[in-house]
Amino acid sequence: MTLDTNTANNWSVVAASVEVPAGEIVQAFLHGQELALWRNAAGEIQVWANRCPHRGTRFTMGRIVDDQLSCGYHGWRFGSGGQCTYIPAHPKLPPPKTVCAKTFQAVERYGMIWTSLGAPEAEVPQLQALADPEQQALFCRSFVVYQSAGKVVQVLQQASAHHYESPQAYVLTGRDEAGAGLTLLVQPMAEDKSTVYLWASGKHAAGDANGIRQRHNAWFKQQRQQLEAGA
Ligand code: FES
Repeated sequence: MTLDTNTANNWSVVAASVEVPAGEIVQAFLHGQELALWRNAAGEIQVWANRCPHRGTRFTMGRIVDDQLSCGYHGWRFGSGGQCTYIPAHPKLPPPKTVCAKTFQAVERYGMIWTSLGAPEAEVPQLQALADPEQQALFCRSFVVYQSAGKVVQVLQQASAHHYESPQAYVLTGRDEAGAGLTLLVQPMAEDKSTVYLWASGKHAAGDANGIRQRHNAWFKQQRQQLEAGA
């Protein structure tokens, strides 16, 4: 897909933190770029192109060994930062410095993993609803939507009674009929496919956390039907 440089440089969500547990390699997409997400032993998130520099095998077919990502094909290992550290066929030779996975900048904030495909000119957006502990923000779940991120934002803003504001591209904040705050983070996976991460404030909502999540998830499933119909 054609990618505007400014769009690629912006920070975008690629997963909720809970969706990338220690020891797993998780596939994600951003603007058509396939990604592999994993954590080192310190818990720091790594976001790499999902392609081994040796023969192009998906990193998500590999596993984590000794705090490194081990490719599933020939077992080459790559440490945090992407440098190849070990080649099983030549165990006594240090791998050339030029053998490196393609990596992207990544940070974790507000329980989300943010990535830029380029060089971001600004910080990750300030999201008070998720940063303020008094708001008791709850991650409800993520929804794949077969619609572009721009259309998702446009339709939600036009059709919803939640009076959404968009403090930055692909971020919506609003309030439902019961007064609960909503934050929707939209991940542009590809031209016609997005993921929406739904957060709700538990501060003004009645019920326990599971009940709040169920109510909001049921609401968004209905929204998704409209979004995919292009309403
Ligand atoms: S393709 Fe990854 S080690 Fe060979």
